[in-house]
Amino acid sequence: MKTKIFCDSADFNTIKLLNKNSIVDGFTTNPSLMRLAGAKNYKNYSLKILKSCKKKPISFEVFADKPEEMLKQAYKINQWGKNVYVKIPVVNSKGIFMGPIIKRLSKDKIKLNITAVYSLNQTKKILNCLNKDTKSIISIFAGRMSDKGIDPLPILKKSILLCKKFKNIHVLWASTREAYNYLQAKQIGCHIITMPPAIIYKISAFGKSAKLMTIDTVKGFLSDSKKSKFKI
Ligand code: G3P
Repeated sequence: MKTKIFCDSADFNTIKLLNKNSIVDGFTTNPSLMRLAGAKNYKNYSLKILKSCKKKPISFEVFADKPEEMLKQAYKINQWGKNVYVKIPVVNSKGIFMGPIIKRLSKDKIKLNITAVYSLNQTKKILNCLNKDTKSIISIFAGRMSDKGIDPLPILKKSILLCKKFKNIHVLWASTREAYNYLQAKQIGCHIITMPPAIIYKISAFGKSAKLMTIDTVKGFLSDSKKSKFKI
């Protein structure tokens, strides 16, 4: 099974460029990435991105905190394009499970990406709400877990196992920290991994020999020493 590579960015130029790159199968954004990209008008900015990315799947997240407002935003975002996945956080900022919202949207055949998932119990609860005939993604934040000293692999593996019998439900390794995470995602049969552009470029350069890595490393040190005019 192929582990698809998604690009985790809301930067317009990056998406435009990587949309043409065959290594990238799709894109994920979130409100923080939108802010980082300088988006002022959420809808207009998203529509501008969608003019460049018309086919590859791309996730846009709701940012309302009240369930009924979240629902309204989700229906609107879904209208923006056929390749759009609506990202819904598993809970809102009060910690309330967004199950009823997920259930309703999924029943209406809206492609969802359930985000900010950190436990197997959350995966189970999400699965109970999803319409198994509609394409959906469950995003597990591996990097943020390892940042806190938790091994994300057991949760990812168990979630993948639970989703195995549903061909439309895919587990996404979110919050990627290093290029090696791609190999780990492949090893455990994770359907998708989303990563920042810098890591995607590193993956494109996989396969360098030890000899070349050594030379490149030493060249880098030499070049910086020269730039700083170091003397002893
Ligand atoms: O887009 C969701 C996720 O990939 C965010 O990652 O780096 O902010 O932990 P990060």
